[in-house]
Amino acid sequence: MVPNKRLADKVSIVTGAASGIGRATALLFAGQGSKVAVADVDEVGAAAAVREAGAHDSALAVRLDVSAESSWTNCIETVVARWGRLDVLVNCAGVAVATPVETTSLEEWRRVHAVNLDGVFLGTRAGIRAMRGRGGCIINIASLSGIEVFPGAAAYASSKAAVIQFSKVAAAECAHSANGVRITVIAPGGVKTPMWKTTRLWQDFADGGEEAAWRKLDPQNCFYEPEEIAECVLETC
Ligand SMILES: NC(=O)c1ccc[n+]([C@@H]2O[C@H](COP(=O)([O-])OP(=O)(O)OC[C@H]3O[C@@H](n4cnc5c(N)ncnc54)[C@H](O)[C@@H]3O)[C@@H](O)[C@H]2O)c1
Repeated sequence: MVPNKRLADKVSIVTGAASGIGRATALLFAGQGSKVAVADVDEVGAAAAVREAGAHDSALAVRLDVSAESSWTNCIETVVARWGRLDVLVNCAGVAVATPVETTSLEEWRRVHAVNLDGVFLGTRAGIRAMRGRGGCIINIASLSGIEVFPGAAAYASSKAAVIQFSKVAAAECAHSANGVRITVIAPGGVKTPMWKTTRLWQDFADGGEEAAWRKLDPQNCFYEPEEIAECVLETC
């Protein structure tokens, strides 16, 4: 169990925080004493997460499209204007599609990479710029599908494999330049979120459906709750 108020006086941004892993992370961070920007394209969901976070002035809904450069500028400026700095950035926003290579359109391929990969690049760059000198940490959420082979999700897997390698290079650059910014990448197995429920990812991979597929490929034979991944994110801060 994580000790209380581990993020006291910290300022965080969690992207994709209107739902699933991002939402669980934002709520955990707020409970651990952080000021949290709940950043998402889903403004209704972000506002609901802020209400759930509860404590006065500890959470703020920010409309963010992670694939748009100008949206990142607005998000960072909003957070710094409100709370004076940025200490922790969790790049969690993501989308999944479940189509075989043969029937994946170029438009769909680009949309998945725009959110999952461009979004992590733009966020990491904005985070490094905001944290340079003061220090901080950036946690990028990839996926086990960026490592293992799940037939039927090539665009998603490609974007997540790229996030893993991108994050390693960015981490090495930060370590080399001693700018005080630490970058981590987490690649969860299957997690019980709306993303998992609304897509038909990997349905043919194992008898018993997606849960069986995830359990089969997960090194610990697990199918996770979003709160478990949120605790893992907190541990890396
Ligand atoms: N659910 C899983 O099994 C699983 C496993 C491994 C990794 N992941 C990764 O975890 C992250 C969170 O996924 P989740 O399962 O919580 O999904 P989710 O669908 O519950 O949440 C994703 C959130 O991202 C937001 N989002 C989508 N496009 C956006 C954009 N352009 N800008 C800002 N926000 C945007 C959505 O509005 C949503 O709130 C994703 O990166 C996903 O790929 C999920």
